Amino acid sequence: MYFLSLQNHSSEFVMSLVYNAAKIKQKEFDVSQSLNGKLLALIFEKPSTRTRVSFEVGIKQMGGSTIVLNRNDIQLSRGESVADTAKVLARYCDGFIMRTFSHDNLSTFANEAKKPVINALTDQFHPCQALADFLTIFENGIAFNELKLCYLGDGSSNMCNSLILAATMLGAEIRVATTKAYAPNEKVQKMANEAKGRLIVTDNLEEALTDANVLYTDVWVSMGQEEEKQARMNALKPFQLNKNAISMASKDAIVLHCLPAYKGFEISEEAFESVNSRIFDQAENRLYVQQSLMHSLFSQYN
Ligand code: CP
Ligand code: NVA
Repeated sequence: MYFLSLQNHSSEFVMSLVYNAAKIKQKEFDVSQSLNGKLLALIFEKPSTRTRVSFEVGIKQMGGSTIVLNRNDIQLSRGESVADTAKVLARYCDGFIMRTFSHDNLSTFANEAKKPVINALTDQFHPCQALADFLTIFENGIAFNELKLCYLGDGSSNMCNSLILAATMLGAEIRVATTKAYAPNEKVQKMANEAKGRLIVTDNLEEALTDANVLYTDVWVSMGQEEEKQARMNALKPFQLNKNAISMASKDAIVLHCLPAYKGFEISEEAFESVNSRIFDQAENRLYVQQSLMHSLFSQYN
């Protein structure tokens, strides 16, 4: 009923979400009635382009309707508690998509709402984006057990955390190229080490990039970290996804970025525009994985 982070789900479930999303994309799986009569609230405490629009479009295509609540629209911004907000909104709405800061806020909201809740990004995790990334990898013909994903940059980010969990639960190898100060958090590393895939954390670009068939990066300064901007820019500079990184990877390696991108920082213009870039397919794929997810959550809930 909830989709808050990948570690709460089995690898079979995650795999089925990706495969069903591929079928939805190919128009082999009809979800056009799956949310008939349902009203879903989208709560955004941080800005969003892709997440907001892909959920709104996706829900409407599935027969549901939406209400978008930005932070300043509701009393959360004046200090009403997350718990009270959840209890009230659950009286009106059938489910929730929520983007917030701390992951605990999202868990509190889900515990109180007792209706389907989907994580639309927290400071710790961004699981819907990871699903879209794995659909993109799958449709590029890369089997998950042959995947060698090199993530360059901020290893402590929500995006990197979710990619580590997805990759290791699906039996893939993920190498995180970063500096010690921005290494993935210990809990995430522990979960990864207990899963069937393999996690390597290194500041050695050669170790991270050799044979990699997917190259991935995300911003160096995530939403809410603006005060750390200069320190992050300086520390993460050696880990830019650029022509040099591409030349060290497998010849056909694809280039991914969850967007928005800051070209010239975490990714060079050249890498962003390279023939192997699949960045806009990734963005499109948000729509199908989220439809697959909502179909699944709402059929369990009804
Ligand atoms: N990738 C992603 O989540 O984009 P938005 O912040 O625009 O939703
Ligand atoms: N790590 C980024 C992801 C944006 C989709 C952020 O949290 O700002």
